Amino acid sequence: MEAWYMDESADDQRKPHRLQPNLPVTLKELEQFGVFSWKLDADKYEDDPELQKIRKERNYSWTDIIKIQKDTLPNYEEKIRSFFQEHIHLDDEIRYILDGSGYFDIRDKDDKWIRIAMMKGDMITLPAGIYHRFTLDENNYAKVMRLFVGEPVWTPYYRPADEFEARKKYVHFLNQVL
Ligand code: LAC
Ligand code: NI
Repeated sequence: MEAWYMDESADDQRKPHRLQPNLPVTLKELEQFGVFSWKLDADKYEDDPELQKIRKERNYSWTDIIKIQKDTLPNYEEKIRSFFQEHIHLDDEIRYILDGSGYFDIRDKDDKWIRIAMMKGDMITLPAGIYHRFTLDENNYAKVMRLFVGEPVWTPYYRPADEFEARKKYVHFLNQVL
């Protein structure tokens, strides 16, 4: 998994948008934002002790699989648009890329966008209250496992969403670690 600071260009969201020169962000730095990741073998997701261990330890009891592509995802255009609109959730967002690829963008402490490139085998958890968004990359395809602690709630709260307890808690967390 690779991450970098984004440029400000309004060009196609599916492009990498790296700064020139590239300004990388390490996995350690991502952890300071409460973002954790794993690398797994996506070919054996159906019977993978490593995945089962993570699910058990972190209580990821619920899963489903969605294919983000034009012909299989209902309301594709609308979903693509809403995924890319900056938002928070009141719970952690946990995703595992089983095939294809895509970008999760998160805000750093100074409100700068960091782009996280997710490929097959990458699993990530974004903390409740972090401003983020998602887009496919130029491959236009991702098969994604969504995981959740208990019954899933997908509601996005679009920015500004600073009055939510989950947001306040996250900001407090950021101020403690950074
Ligand atoms: C979601 C991702 C797109 O909320 O952020 O499903
Ligand atoms: Ni989200």
